[in-house]
Amino acid sequence: MVSPKDFVGRDVITVGDFRREELLFLLDAAARFEDLVGPLLAGRVVATLFYEPSTRTRLSFESAVGRLGGRAIGFADAGVSSQAKGETLADTVRVVEGYSDLILLRHSAEGAARLAAEFARVPVVNCGDGAHQHPTQTLVDLYTVRRELGRLDGLHFVFVGDLRYGRTVHSLVTTLAHFQARVTLVSPPFLRLPAEQRAALETLKVPVRETHELAEAVRDADVLYVTRIQRERFADPVEFERVKDSYRVDNELLSRARPEVAILHPLPRVNEIAPEVDAHPHAAYFRQAHYGVAVRKALLALLLDRATEVLR
Ligand code: CP
Repeated sequence: MVSPKDFVGRDVITVGDFRREELLFLLDAAARFEDLVGPLLAGRVVATLFYEPSTRTRLSFESAVGRLGGRAIGFADAGVSSQAKGETLADTVRVVEGYSDLILLRHSAEGAARLAAEFARVPVVNCGDGAHQHPTQTLVDLYTVRRELGRLDGLHFVFVGDLRYGRTVHSLVTTLAHFQARVTLVSPPFLRLPAEQRAALETLKVPVRETHELAEAVRDADVLYVTRIQRERFADPVEFERVKDSYRVDNELLSRARPEVAILHPLPRVNEIAPEVDAHPHAAYFRQAHYGVAVRKALLALLLDRATEVLR
């Protein structure tokens, strides 16, 4: 049995912080928050410390705070923070905890959110730490799949693109162990899912297949999860040029897939999904971005102990 009180004051660093029952509770809560606007977070201040670029994560969190009557403060560019003067992350969070009730952190360093949580006395939510994890994106992804397909259990997920550096993939793929998923991984060899993640999937007994052949992999996919090949993560630009256009999802490819396949992408996209796909009835990526507000409203209200009334 899960209660709203189970979430109060928690840090959210990896999606492994949540049990299956808690994930389902969060998704049910998000559904209740989808249309909710009101003063639930009145008087509460949420700090957005974004040391890396973002559109969806930061703005959907800020929208969630605003729609619940709270206030968001922070920065979207490390260059305008005192990091530019040499301040450490540990010192920044020890200062910002005095200005806010919760810290949302995006950072290029893996482990930055965990470090921040060690120093902050207010909850810290990892909004993406390097190529490591992006737990709230996983909540949004699960919410989208359930919204699009009506269920989460027993689905075949095909992941394509940058599986090496893609933090949204790293967060989601192991979470699927809770939902008896089957997984197919499609990438160039250089962008294979890291060994640590593959070992975790084996331990969790998730059936996994790896292939380079997207056309063959999509045939019985329930969810096609497309990712951008991330120029900013490559140490060698020549390697990026070699792999950058490895895969492209277009209508010809989708003609080989089930008509009801749900097409997800955490966005931003570059060339990996052709614009013609946007008209596909199951191209869910813009809806997925919009669901971020509902999911993040529910999460904020739960962490800040303001959800009980709504979820009663
Ligand atoms: N999906 C996602 O994390 O997008 P942003 O980088 O725009 O926040």
